[in-house]
Amino acid sequence: MELWPLQLLLLLASLRVHPGHTHDHAHAHYSEDVVYHQLPRFWTSVGFCPAGEINHHGISSALTSPALQLQLRQLAALPVGAVTHVRIHWLLELVQFLEYDQQGVPRYDFGQFDNFVDLLQQLQLAPVLEFMANPGHVFSNNVEHNALLWEHFVKSIINHQLARHGAARLANWRYETWNEPDVHNYNRLNFTADSYLEYVQAVRRGLSQGSVRRKSRRQQHYRELRGPAGLFKAEQRHPLCWRLLELCEAQISKCPIDILSYHRKGEDGSAAGIVNASLLLLQRIYEDYPQLKQLPVSNSEADPVAGWGTPREFQSDVRYAAVLLSNVLLHWQAKLSGGALAQLESISHDNAFLSYHPHEFTQRTLLAHFSMNNTQPPHAQFIQKPVFAALGLLAKLGTRAARLEQINMDSKHSVQVLRSVSGNAGAQYMATIFLSPEQAGPQLTEFHHKYTLNMSIANESAFITELLVPQQTDPAHVWQLAGSPPYPNATLREAMRRAQTPLLYKSGPIWQYNSELVVNSASLPLPWVMLLRVCAASWPKLKRPQRLSIVAVTKREVFISWSEQPRSTQCLKSYEVWFKQHANANWQLISQDWHLPYTSFQYAPTLPDSVNGFYKVRGVDVFNETSAFSQIVEYLEL
Ligand SMILES: *[C@@H]1O[C@H](CO)[C@@H](O)[C@H](O)[C@H]1NC(C)=O
Ligand SMILES: *[C@@H]1O[C@H](CO)[C@@H](O)[C@H](O)[C@H]1NC(C)=O
Ligand SMILES: *[C@@H]1O[C@H](CO)[C@@H](O)[C@H](O)[C@H]1NC(C)=O
Ligand SMILES: *[C@@H]1O[C@H](CO)[C@@H](O)[C@H](O)[C@H]1NC(C)=O
Ligand SMILES: *[C@@H]1O[C@H](CO)[C@@H](O)[C@H](O)[C@H]1NC(C)=O
Ligand SMILES: *[C@@H]1O[C@H](CO)[C@@H](O)[C@H](O)[C@H]1NC(C)=O
Ligand SMILES: *[C@@H]1O[C@H](CO)[C@@H](O)[C@H](O)[C@H]1NC(C)=O
Repeated sequence: MELWPLQLLLLLASLRVHPGHTHDHAHAHYSEDVVYHQLPRFWTSVGFCPAGEINHHGISSALTSPALQLQLRQLAALPVGAVTHVRIHWLLELVQFLEYDQQGVPRYDFGQFDNFVDLLQQLQLAPVLEFMANPGHVFSNNVEHNALLWEHFVKSIINHQLARHGAARLANWRYETWNEPDVHNYNRLNFTADSYLEYVQAVRRGLSQGSVRRKSRRQQHYRELRGPAGLFKAEQRHPLCWRLLELCEAQISKCPIDILSYHRKGEDGSAAGIVNASLLLLQRIYEDYPQLKQLPVSNSEADPVAGWGTPREFQSDVRYAAVLLSNVLLHWQAKLSGGALAQLESISHDNAFLSYHPHEFTQRTLLAHFSMNNTQPPHAQFIQKPVFAALGLLAKLGTRAARLEQINMDSKHSVQVLRSVSGNAGAQYMATIFLSPEQAGPQLTEFHHKYTLNMSIANESAFITELLVPQQTDPAHVWQLAGSPPYPNATLREAMRRAQTPLLYKSGPIWQYNSELVVNSASLPLPWVMLLRVCAASWPKLKRPQRLSIVAVTKREVFISWSEQPRSTQCLKSYEVWFKQHANANWQLISQDWHLPYTSFQYAPTLPDSVNGFYKVRGVDVFNETSAFSQIVEYLEL
């Protein structure tokens, strides 16, 4: 792959800037009077709808397909905390109806559901359970008993999990009511406004009855319910969602939902459009239902444009990564500014779908999915898109963040800067995201592209800068140059994977307190994203990688992934993957020359080498110190 020389200029100097000195607006000199606020991780949920028929058989086969399971492993192979929740429509169709007992109470088989949540648990992902299913037509066959049946269904799910796995299993789960109940496609139970309200209240009772009884909202085991996951179109067209708000407004203490969830997407693919649409909706809601201002809010489908399956070029490359980052940054700004989004609890990206031919890269997904029908049996190959890498960058933000800052590039365009920190004077960590505009005016001089950042956090520290830039960190571009083959061969897959992680631009020690970073981005194509991290030498050292796992992709090819321990990987530079064929062989570094800031590596040696043997992994930090090795795992191809 070609690499053109980036002319980012990195300048470390002990420049002193006199207090009170005013700078040209194009320069952004940061002084330390920045105010940092606690930064909640509100963007770490992703969602999708499984393909296939909506019944137990259809949803089970979709969710147990090797392609889907490999895709979940990919989602989990991001830095710790990057993706914490997966919101999956019809997930509860995995619960199978068995029979009615003598009292007419349904009995359910949780086998498939258990298997699936076991996998999520192993991957350290938590589900967002949407209470939308009709196992064995239980609900449609007993319309007059729906309230009791829902209460029982929800309670059974909770109690089953508690009995089989203990409370820890449920610790991070989220619960939401039926997705977009006013949309005919989803409202498969033909809810009327009245039956819908009964349903929501029944779900609430079921959640509260599972194990510990509800005493108060502050009670430790209280399970919050999100809803109505609605589109909130005109009141006549979407009566279910609005009626629920009416119910809550009348008596907020009896409101069955704890977090008001809604869906607002952008119109033109921009992040500003998403935030604008959310603000408009919430303002409208609060006008008529002022009591609801008390509830936290969540946009559980906060995407740039509706229609996940519609191919759009921007969704294949760095542009979508930039929009997702901008979406998070603008929501942070809106939350801080104290307006209608002050109570924002979370947003979810509805982009964990499996893309299909011939739209491998262009659908609204995190990964490009290649259905490799030219092998026997067929298999799935995944390539991480820049938007996937963007979620990894966000995971590196500190625990406190400043207001969004704008650095003007010209009169209309600016670079957005989000600074964050963790720790204290004893051991500090700093992470800053720079996000360029998608376009800029023609009158740009080099001077306008210089950003100066004070990196002083300790006398002894080190820094690292990583980039997402068009073409270089753009596997779709690599694929297009090769003629967009439906079955990319091993050479092309490797070339795409080399372009799938952020580009390591620079890393090194900082010797002097009061060092400054000057970034000159004049020659970078737009849009670009940069993550700068600075670590004090006293920051906690890298801990050994956990849960190393090797799974088959196809013959002679494996997906190797592992997980990180929280609070030690902020200063990670890259991982190393080591392999030996048999007990007496020497260890080989099989990831030589790869920048691997995330927790996976796909290995496909060429003949006569095989994937059978022993694997271990370690991290290298920005001080060039290595972590302990993970446990050694042996892999044997069947
Ligand atoms: C950089 O920050 C440090 C500590 O936060 C401060 O003492 C120093 O004056 C700053 N330097 C510049 C050039 O602003
Ligand atoms: C809902 O209504 C549609 C159209 O009237 C009907 O075909 C379907 O069977 C109904 N579904 C249920 C669960 O009653
Ligand atoms: C969002 O709203 C702001 C202020 O009302 C407006 O200036 C901007 O053009 C809007 N952006 C989009 C994409 O709708
Ligand atoms: C850095 O070193 C200087 C000189 O040794 C010392 O005065 C200063 O307090 C140190 N600063 C920090 C933050 O450790
Ligand atoms: C591979 O097979 C699947 C399932 O039959 C099909 O949907 C897909 O379009 C095929 N892919 C290609 C590249 O032909
Ligand atoms: C893949 O295809 C390219 C271009 O046709 C070719 O140069 C390369 O050798 C092929 N790689 C493999 C592993 O077959
Ligand atoms: C780590 O090693 C690289 C490559 O040898 C070097 O460029 C960098 O300065 C080193 N970092 C530190 C903190 O010494």
